[in-house]
Amino acid sequence: DKGGHKHFMAKEIAEQPTVLGEAIRHYLPNDGTQICLPGGDLDFSKVKRLVMVACGTASYACLTAKYWFEQIAGIPVEVDVASEFRYREPPITEGTVALFVSQSGETADTLAALRYCSGKADRIVSVINVPESSIARESDLALPILAGAEIGVASTKAFTCQLSVLLILALKAAQDRGQLGAEELNQHLCDLRALPGLINQAIGSESKISQVAAKLAETRDILFLGRGRMFPLALEGALKLKEISYIHAEAYASGELKHGPIALIDQHVPVVVLAPHDELYDKSISNMQEVMARAGKVLLITDAKGLKDGAEGTWDTIQMPQVSDILSPILYAIPAQLLAYHTAVAKGTDVDQPRNLAKSVTVE
Ligand code: F6R
Repeated sequence: DKGGHKHFMAKEIAEQPTVLGEAIRHYLPNDGTQICLPGGDLDFSKVKRLVMVACGTASYACLTAKYWFEQIAGIPVEVDVASEFRYREPPITEGTVALFVSQSGETADTLAALRYCSGKADRIVSVINVPESSIARESDLALPILAGAEIGVASTKAFTCQLSVLLILALKAAQDRGQLGAEELNQHLCDLRALPGLINQAIGSESKISQVAAKLAETRDILFLGRGRMFPLALEGALKLKEISYIHAEAYASGELKHGPIALIDQHVPVVVLAPHDELYDKSISNMQEVMARAGKVLLITDAKGLKDGAEGTWDTIQMPQVSDILSPILYAIPAQLLAYHTAVAKGTDVDQPRNLAKSVTVE
């Protein structure tokens, strides 16, 4: 049942304020001022290293979480795609927690990576959407993302729910390790509780995003740029777009632009710049100006402050609500998803069942 939407993907994008709210309440129960992991505790105080493994969109959730675990909790994090990790025979040293992220819980490579770590890592933890899945069953601790069934092949609500659970875990880690004062932690939890409302506001930009998407539908190549926490999201935006619209899209860390990709820029290549007005904004804008100086068409996605300081000379802009820095990757997932969705709709491709793709990849 598409609930009145044209596609499951549209329904699942629209559901995000609700399912995120449920996921957040699950881990911040009652008055929402304490983090709790129903189903088993995980004490980060002695953890020396976190190894995170996943495929596709779930691996981008891990990459985003690396910024959180390292910056907020001070834990060294390694992220790898499961197909590489499983055959590399990476040493799993003492004090390592291995964390696997999978919507289906059945992805063959991720399961094999989990089995490799089993007996070697201190704990096997998974962040999954299907509690009965193989990955959940073979973990010491399985944390549900509570996104509900995801039917569209392109992952949307599972991604933002994965991010929310991983952020809560990073905040818990920071708390266990004494890296966050009570006041700071309270502020973060308060911001998290307000997130579903902001996601709802972001979805409110849908008609503007669909106008931009109609222009993108005519292009062959699109680049996505982001810095810091926005870099994994640039990767996710590019993946989503290529999966369902079949437009070639690539993502780069903004700072890598001048090390090669800038050679691709001309008036035919739209460049999507994800740049909330945070501590890295000025750097992102200066990379954006390098693109515009070479006639590149920039689509700037930012907030009101970011538009005020940086909109000049851009091809188009999308405005997001103001959000606290650590939450920006979750909020900015919405325009990335909607842009891919409406570009695909404008092109008339099969949004829910893109060619050559399967929802659950149970063979390697
Ligand atoms: C992209 C997408 C895939 C999955 C990947 C992992 O939209 O859906 O990249 O994220 O196949 O699947 P799970 O999370 O089920 O392990």
